[in-house]
Amino acid sequence: MRFDILTILPQLMESPFNDSILKRAMEKGHVEIHFHNPRDYTAYKHKQVDDYQFGGGAGMVIMCEPLSIIIEKLKAQRNYDHIIYMTPDGQTLNQKKVNALSLKKNIMVICGHYKGIDQRIRDLYVTDEISIGDYVLSGGELAAAVLCDAIIRLIPGVLNDETSALTDTFQDNLLAPPVYTRPEEFKGLKVPAVLMGGNHAEIEKWRMEQSLERTKQRRPDLLDD
Ligand code: 6GU
Repeated sequence: MRFDILTILPQLMESPFNDSILKRAMEKGHVEIHFHNPRDYTAYKHKQVDDYQFGGGAGMVIMCEPLSIIIEKLKAQRNYDHIIYMTPDGQTLNQKKVNALSLKKNIMVICGHYKGIDQRIRDLYVTDEISIGDYVLSGGELAAAVLCDAIIRLIPGVLNDETSALTDTFQDNLLAPPVYTRPEEFKGLKVPAVLMGGNHAEIEKWRMEQSLERTKQRRPDLLDD
């Protein structure tokens, strides 16, 4: 799978990809990530990529040309399954969307900044607009890193124990059950006896009950779907 990420702040996104699961995924060849900085493609003086908005108002807007040059160059090289713009006014990301994206080959991700990007880039090129929640970040980079992390861990072969993604919270619209490790007793709290008994059918039944109970208590909205 290949990601092309358009950002004026690539350094904001480096560290998540230089560690643990994501780094291993790249080293094993499951995923390629390419950064493209609009500043390297602007014809304006001082590498300017943003300008005041027409009509007035606070905040700068990323201009069309530098984004358009990169997008058209990339589109001429391969077909993109999705061209995603990260924006707080997009559709809220969820596991179902992440699952669907994890099956794709080429994904372009555009990160906005300031007041965002010129609407015409959205009209001309963008296929999906994604938000990671109802709060505002200073730019799309951290949101794009969240999106990529969620997708990449689902690519077959990326997680060591492939079944572990299948039992994640939100797969099946259920929250994950509680988990325990050594010691058997900690500050007077014991590991539930069923987990120590070795009866796998009983353990599975207990985990399902716990998942349902947790979901009912904390996220009843998930059970409505
Ligand atoms: Cl995708 N971008 C920004 N700037 N803020 C956000 C977001 C995205 N998702 C939630 N808040």
